[in-house]
Amino acid sequence: MERKRVFSGVQPTGNIHLGNYLGALKQFVDLQETNDCIYCIVDMHSITVPQDPEELKKHILDVAALYLAVGLDPKKSIIFVQSEVSGHAELSWILTCNSYTGELSRMTQFKAKSKGQESAPTGLFTYPVLMAADILLYDTDIVPVGNDQKQHIELTRDIALRINHKYGDTFVVPEGRYLKEGARIMGLDDPTSKMSKSAENDMSRISLLDDPGKIKKAIMKATTDSDGVIAFDPENKPGISNLLNIYSALTEESITSIVNRFDGEGYGTFKKALVEVVTDSIAPIRERFDKIRESDELIDILKDGSRRANDIAEPVLERAKERFGLGIR
Ligand code: AMP
Ligand code: TRP
Repeated sequence: MERKRVFSGVQPTGNIHLGNYLGALKQFVDLQETNDCIYCIVDMHSITVPQDPEELKKHILDVAALYLAVGLDPKKSIIFVQSEVSGHAELSWILTCNSYTGELSRMTQFKAKSKGQESAPTGLFTYPVLMAADILLYDTDIVPVGNDQKQHIELTRDIALRINHKYGDTFVVPEGRYLKEGARIMGLDDPTSKMSKSAENDMSRISLLDDPGKIKKAIMKATTDSDGVIAFDPENKPGISNLLNIYSALTEESITSIVNRFDGEGYGTFKKALVEVVTDSIAPIRERFDKIRESDELIDILKDGSRRANDIAEPVLERAKERFGLGIR
């Protein structure tokens, strides 16, 4: 099969959780074997909401180390930090001038994040345009992301098609790649909202850096229902269905097979088994993380990554500027 250009990004806000891992990072690792992959730490996206500068610096390196700890290989993939490649901000402006306030107002992530605020930061509003710039800057074919990003990918495609139509072929029109089952991991305390880095209750998520005690507590306390039957029914039994999803995504055993195996058992038994699966999956990642985070190599890998990213980005940015008649050449 032909190699494709793959691009994706994760925000350095808080620790990577199981939702990020199963929805995004696990796919990143699989894709790097047969494609040209670029994985970004999107720090400029993270300042769309206020960040503590010290914390942000730390989180950027944490995410970079986690990328490597889950199995991304800098020999196979380009790993870099968004703000180190200036083309993202430059292309973002060109795209901003070719997007509409109407379409941006319809983005559900913007609506959710700006809810209750009388006036939201402009960056929160134009967030999806910067994301479109990230993707279009590398002539990306495929964008592996969680289901929650579908609307942003559609917007990216719309903007690319619009510019190609008006100014002649400029951008590759990318496709999103989403996981089917397990694409959306829900909060453990509230299985009707997605697991997120920003939810207040720490028991709502499992971070890849959590210790076994915390993992056990969060899973044993996870919200289920009162009928006590282990069955997959996201609509009526969102709690247990979410736990089944996590179990299946980590072990790659089908949900039907898991349900059959635990037939007649109580939620407690299943939860204990899940604690074991999650702990065993995460332990080696944590171990690798600790080693990588302390090594000097991490900064060298990121520097090399931004050089290589920039080499790909520059001609694409030049092409876009040329189409719009910008600059003196
Ligand atoms: P973020 O934490 O928003 O930077 O997300 C990084 C990646 O993880 C994106 O591809 C998201 O779609 C994915 N993601 C975030 N939360 C979840 C979740 N609860 N379930 C599945 N994927 C998720
Ligand atoms: N918006 C994405 C998220 O919250 C992160 C992101 C920024 C991204 N730029 C991207 C994902 C480009 C894929 C491609 O998860």
